[in-house]
Amino acid sequence: MPTALIGLGSNLGARAAACARAASLIDRLPQTRLVALSRLVESAPIGGPPQRPFVNAVLRVETGIRPGPLLRKLKRIERDLGRVPGLRWGPRRIDADLLYWGEAVVRNGSLDLPHPRIAERRFVLDPLAEVAASFRDPVRGCTLEALRDRAAPEVRGQEVSVMKPVPRTWKFLGERIARRQSDGARRAPARILRTVAALRRYVAAARRAGRSIGFVPTMGALHEGHLSLMRRAKRECDVVLVSIFVNPMQFGPREDFSKYPRDLAGDARLCSSAGVDAIFAPSVEAMYPPGFKTCVDMRDLTEPLCGRFRPGHFRGVMTVVAKLFLQVQPDAAFFGQKDFQQAAILKQMARDLDFPIRIVRCPIVREPDGLAMSSRNAYLSPEERSQALCLSQALTEARRLLRGGERRAGRLRRAMKRIVRAVSGARIDYISIVDPETLRDVEQATPSSVALLAVRIGPARLIDNAILGE
Ligand code: PAF
Repeated sequence: MPTALIGLGSNLGARAAACARAASLIDRLPQTRLVALSRLVESAPIGGPPQRPFVNAVLRVETGIRPGPLLRKLKRIERDLGRVPGLRWGPRRIDADLLYWGEAVVRNGSLDLPHPRIAERRFVLDPLAEVAASFRDPVRGCTLEALRDRAAPEVRGQEVSVMKPVPRTWKFLGERIARRQSDGARRAPARILRTVAALRRYVAAARRAGRSIGFVPTMGALHEGHLSLMRRAKRECDVVLVSIFVNPMQFGPREDFSKYPRDLAGDARLCSSAGVDAIFAPSVEAMYPPGFKTCVDMRDLTEPLCGRFRPGHFRGVMTVVAKLFLQVQPDAAFFGQKDFQQAAILKQMARDLDFPIRIVRCPIVREPDGLAMSSRNAYLSPEERSQALCLSQALTEARRLLRGGERRAGRLRRAMKRIVRAVSGARIDYISIVDPETLRDVEQATPSSVALLAVRIGPARLIDNAILGE
């Protein structure tokens, strides 16, 4: 079904509740399903008499209702929720605007699609990019994320703040969507594709149906960190494709390729529970047929940090990801911040090689005690598991010191080392404070500097990092 994007705004009465009520009524329209909602953002009114700030949001819906009738239904919802015709730019109990309806372009006086003022309003651009970053604006020919990023300085300067705490009514709606997605996912197991030809057929059909594709490359042994990437992809794209491939090219001769955990059936169940539509699980021969000779490499970003300790590793990662990008041709690809260097390298690779793919770096997911989730945590004995907490503790200490005013990177590094060295059996590969763009050590840390460390504990080599000011 086509995707429609609907903007909501309210500055009279219980503003968040009015937006939630409107969203709920839209969700109940025939052949219509709410699939994502942005956060609520507050913004100053534009024009009109003095009045309260607006609360705004954008909804992403799938709908079988054509744009004209859908707009009429939105106007009906506005009336039902108590909107009375009044002053232009005056206070409103609820505004429900049809911003996009698929790629339809309509200008007929009563219906303007895409909505004409989108690019002038930051309170619309921000939430639009949140729920439909890869959606293409049919007039401007760019994604909604690009539209937001290219907004004029005066639009970017408009004040917009996310409403906190999240009002209960809005949270409930979000939970309803998440529940529905996981119920739907339970009913529909992710389809498993074994060959490049099957993958290409699947992708071509999705493209013909006008669906955007979100891609999560993995090596399997999935955990909550991977699932968070899949859920993010699900929120931002129509179809989510996950690859599961333990890539021999990125393992060194003495590394854990042969014992890397593999459980396709279990991984497929987890993917299905996260709403993944298809899994690409090729054999090594399908990815690297006999006679395979090409590889992708990069200078600079691959040299420091893990590059020093795992020669050839990033060449293997780039080669396999470049192949996967060409096979899947996704709109967006999602990577975890835990592999900070990997995400930076892949972003650079996408830029250098003109892959028209949005690279999204998603936050690290941690266990309740702070350990960053990783497939390699499975190698740890209970004792090693508790020793592994020294990584996140060292990062917490570096952030604490920076908050207290310490800027000397050397001091931060030494404090981190002290914490890790206190753990018998922890062997440090590196502890660094780097610039997030160049990945080179800094002398003076700033809130955007990144602290990274790699530590061997028992049979596992663990990595973790934190942006110091976050
Ligand atoms: O991060 C990983 O799991 C791998 O390096 C990746 C990106 C799937 C490439 O094999």
